[in-house]
Amino acid sequence: MPCSPALITAPKTIPSNEISKNDLAFTMPLLDKVEAHQLISSCGELGPDPSSDYFTTRTKNIAYVLCLNGEWFQIRAHFFIQPQQYNDFSGGYKRCYREMPSEFLDCQATKKVLNAFKRTYKIPDNEPILVQVQQSHVTPDNEGQCLTGQGIHTDGADRAILVCLKRNNIEGAKNAIYADLEGKQAIVNPFVLEEGHAMLWHDNQVFHHVQPAQSVEKEGTRTVLIAHYPAIHYLTGTINPNNALGTSTVDEHQRLRDKI
Ligand SMILES: [Fe+2]
Repeated sequence: MPCSPALITAPKTIPSNEISKNDLAFTMPLLDKVEAHQLISSCGELGPDPSSDYFTTRTKNIAYVLCLNGEWFQIRAHFFIQPQQYNDFSGGYKRCYREMPSEFLDCQATKKVLNAFKRTYKIPDNEPILVQVQQSHVTPDNEGQCLTGQGIHTDGADRAILVCLKRNNIEGAKNAIYADLEGKQAIVNPFVLEEGHAMLWHDNQVFHHVQPAQSVEKEGTRTVLIAHYPAIHYLTGTINPNNALGTSTVDEHQRLRDKI
């Protein structure tokens, strides 16, 4: 369903004169193995991601969450619409997913991740954040494929956090951050984000990428949590006025919005 881009009110973020270059992207250890396992369990069974029929098979659950006086709450919504201006491949139409069960926000490890994201970027109370937990399924048949279908890209947010929860029988899938869509200027060179570690970045100032993965045995999986702020525009399909990074274009016949 193609959407009509429109401007929405700019959400509050850290003023650009308070941002140093080193803050554009960084990594940190965040969860231990037990916490990462608990977070995965709290998601229940991950549902299908139909868009991944066109790249490496992926399952996914999503939740829109917000913090009120230190407590996290979930907003009922089972979809997001990423404007095609940020994602020429799988943007511009409504993508529906399984919602997180209530156990997700009951989990201390989930709250630890959300609080770290909120605290790092001074995300205000009452502001929705889109959280996704997804698992890529790598087999000898699909290894070497793109894990996202997008190449180097922005997600169209202001701020993002990616936490690796589990790497099982997998090699590669290195993450990187670039200053440009062509990947000529690396800000963070490709590296393996280890289990329990988080990468945080300014999604409206730098691009990110994940390299293909290889399965070590019959099937390998990589499970990650990714969260974005702001999130209201993913409900409406409108452009984020704080993010003008754009996207690489794909061939017309590859655009999923034209296949739906
Ligand atoms: Fe992304």
